[in-house]
Amino acid sequence: MQAPGSIDAMQQTLGRAGYVASRPLATVAFLALRLGRPLFLEGEAGTGKTEIARTLAATLGRDLIRLQCYEGLDATTAVYEWNFAAQMIAIRTAEAAGNADAELLNRDLFGPDFLIERPLLQAMRPHENGPPVLLIDEIDRADEPFEAFLLEALSDHQVTIPELGTIRAPEPPIVVLTSNRTREVHDALKRRCLYHWVDYPDFAAEMEILAARVPEAGARLAQEVTGFVQRLRAEDLFKRPGVAETIDWAKCLLALDAVALSPELISDTLGAVLKYQDDIARMEGSEAARLLSEVRARLGPAA
Ligand SMILES: Nc1ncnc2c1ncn2[C@@H]1O[C@H](COP(=O)(O)OP(=O)(O)OP(=O)(O)O)[C@@H](O)[C@H]1O
Ligand SMILES: [Mg+2]
Repeated sequence: MQAPGSIDAMQQTLGRAGYVASRPLATVAFLALRLGRPLFLEGEAGTGKTEIARTLAATLGRDLIRLQCYEGLDATTAVYEWNFAAQMIAIRTAEAAGNADAELLNRDLFGPDFLIERPLLQAMRPHENGPPVLLIDEIDRADEPFEAFLLEALSDHQVTIPELGTIRAPEPPIVVLTSNRTREVHDALKRRCLYHWVDYPDFAAEMEILAARVPEAGARLAQEVTGFVQRLRAEDLFKRPGVAETIDWAKCLLALDAVALSPELISDTLGAVLKYQDDIARMEGSEAARLLSEVRARLGPAA
């Protein structure tokens, strides 16, 4: 499918796929595609950073290739690995058959048959439906040397395997990087990208997300859940709930056949929204009741 031709079209395309994008996010996504620049998304946990890469791939009909970053991830592992077990079997088989010619083995053992392609290499390969979406998720978890390596790979759209040579993408992949900002990502990498801070949605946007993701929820329940989560985010919590938690909570409440919140219901299901015992302990009981009445006062009487 063609990339959306305008910011509005981008917003609508994402919307049809169930992703509620603010205008600034739709703008930066549109520009990233138009200019062929990587999209760098930073923000709190559970605010839809990973999901936008998935949605872009789905709406454009492209393959999604995900590189999940972690501490100690090294450049090579992100590109390729040799299939050690298969190499051993090939050696044994050749030995048993009496044709373990060293040079021949060496050549074959480090050839395409024994190569395991990891995300960065996969992303450089030609894809039937056009350049894939390469999601480099949680780059802040990887170490700085990896970042430097990535910068190079992304600038040249190519990776090198010593035994095989350099593999260059026929067309650059669509790159989405995400970070939870557990550390600052280097300026040099950011400079290559279009940057956007993904904030918590406002009440209206979060209602829209709930309507898209949990359409079974009634209007009153959706309003109260959204209002309550929004109110919780204003509290001094160890870990504020993301959109993922709002969705989870609504699903939990639906499974309990709830049509509205009550202080008891909140206390019983708070684990879907808050994931730290200190936060839960603070919000249980009278505090939940107080926040709920505040939320209800703001929402107005039930229709
Ligand atoms: N704007 C949105 N529109 C639709 N769904 C959304 C939106 N934002 C978040 N979600 C939903 O919330 C969930 C969490 O989103 P996602 O995993 O993308 O968050 P994240 O920012 O990558 O979080 P983390 O930092 O924890 O990885 C997903 O199930 C997604 O469907
Ligand atoms: Mg994520």
